[in-house]
Amino acid sequence: MDFKQSVVTALAAVLKDQMDEAAITNLVETPKSSDLGDYAFPTFALAKVYRKAPVTIAQDLVSQIDATPFEAVKAVGGYVNFFLNKVSFAHQVLTDIAEQGEHFGDQQLGSGNVPIDMSSPNIAKPMSMGHLRSTVIGNALANILTKVGYSPIRINHLGDWGTQFGKLIVAYKLWGSEEAVKTDPISNLLEYYVRFHEEAETQPELNDEARAWFKKLEDGDEEATRLWSWFREESLKEFNRIYAMLDIDFDSYNGEAFYNDKMDGVIATLEHEHLLKESQGAEIVDLSQYDLNPALIKKSDGATLYMTRDLAAAIYRHDTYNFVQSLYVVGNEQREHFEQLKAVLKEMGYDWADDIHHIPFGLITSGGKKLSTRKGNVILLERVLNDAIQLAKDQIATKHPDLANADQVAHEVGVGAVIFHDLKNERLDSFDFNLEEVVRFEGETGPYVQYTNARAHSILSKTSVQPAPEVGLTDESAWEILKQLADYPNVIARAARIYEPSVIAKYALRLAKAFNQYYANTKILIDDAELPARLALVQSTTQILTNALGLLGVAAPEEM
Ligand code: ARG
Repeated sequence: MDFKQSVVTALAAVLKDQMDEAAITNLVETPKSSDLGDYAFPTFALAKVYRKAPVTIAQDLVSQIDATPFEAVKAVGGYVNFFLNKVSFAHQVLTDIAEQGEHFGDQQLGSGNVPIDMSSPNIAKPMSMGHLRSTVIGNALANILTKVGYSPIRINHLGDWGTQFGKLIVAYKLWGSEEAVKTDPISNLLEYYVRFHEEAETQPELNDEARAWFKKLEDGDEEATRLWSWFREESLKEFNRIYAMLDIDFDSYNGEAFYNDKMDGVIATLEHEHLLKESQGAEIVDLSQYDLNPALIKKSDGATLYMTRDLAAAIYRHDTYNFVQSLYVVGNEQREHFEQLKAVLKEMGYDWADDIHHIPFGLITSGGKKLSTRKGNVILLERVLNDAIQLAKDQIATKHPDLANADQVAHEVGVGAVIFHDLKNERLDSFDFNLEEVVRFEGETGPYVQYTNARAHSILSKTSVQPAPEVGLTDESAWEILKQLADYPNVIARAARIYEPSVIAKYALRLAKAFNQYYANTKILIDDAELPARLALVQSTTQILTNALGLLGVAAPEEM
């Protein structure tokens, strides 16, 4: 079913000497107002060829086009407006959705492995709102890419290596307690780390000790390794609690430390290609021909860096997954890092560097200020999620006091609200986070979409009549919903092409709004000849809302 294609075909038949189907497809647009039809073709582009005014060309085209598949074809100004035949349109959309169910919108835009670097928090530090964004955007992209044919691999590139572990070991040995780390690992480890920095200001020898411990760690010293892996394990336990709340899994937790034994290989290749230069005692790759700052490969003390590990990781992912694209869902502030990464890989001779895409995103602010997890403004994600669940619980208690599995639903609504709020904004936009707004049941929120879906389910549960698309729906007021439903496959394709989950979130809001308008103006359950067709419309709406929310990683409870 492709209604746009029927418009293109009709135009192509009369324009065959002037324009091919691809060019026509590019020009056909959706008019702002439905008075101007469902599709419109602008004739300006043909003015030169025909040496006529666009208005005249539009009139000529209308007289030649075979209008049988349409309700009407009209010339308005420099446009040809196409009005679809609503009854056959409705029949087509509703049968397709009934037959294909959750597979409606599946398509093959490509295939092959796509590693997605996502979440990637740092050990012994709280997961920030930025890491949350990376987690939910990465997960949604993985779902969307699956729907269009790719095989994503969710990779959590943990920040589990670096000189900070030397500091942490020193701090733990001075002020730490095993008990404290076990009960509340991240806040206590963070506290030791912060204290280390404070005390090192007056006792600079602490820094020497930290360097020595990091050296031991690099050399595989037993005690250093034991402490490091214990910090890692305890931190991961905490991160996993958040991932469980979000219902997000990873295929790999290979973080920075995983590449320890792969660093020499990277350095050897860089040397072999004569790419390494010395600068103030450090080893760098000059990237001035890319208009980029040099990439720092090795510090003066010989320690390898974030960049070096990312080089090793990129190569490892290429060798292991033979990827068709490799994505990094990481904040916009690391834009230059990923430009450098690609440039160095290019210099090393890897032409697949072009398949690497940094998927940047903006900041979450609160009252217009950047949220930070350093000292002061510590927002712990778990608390945000739990507060959201509590707010959802309160609202459910008033709206639906006898709901059977209220706790489960409150979880799905609260967590879903936070995820949805994150994804409805275009990735690169920074946005404000106000929990009360996020969990509201009205307005542009996740709970609003979920509530609409539950309302549709409740309509279906109130009748024993079976939905039947083949009955035929002539109801004009259903038109907006039908158009949205038919658009779903295009929406998915666009979201996948521009790596933008907000395309799906905004779509879910549009569909929910169209449905609520219909619900407010139409007596759906009246027992007349079209009741089974109206029920098919309601059922299709639940199917697509559930599916769209699912792509975003948001649950769709049937009752709430
Ligand atoms: N751990 C880093 C941070 O919190 C993000 C890592 C992103 N992934 C990567 N391959 N560099 O800033």
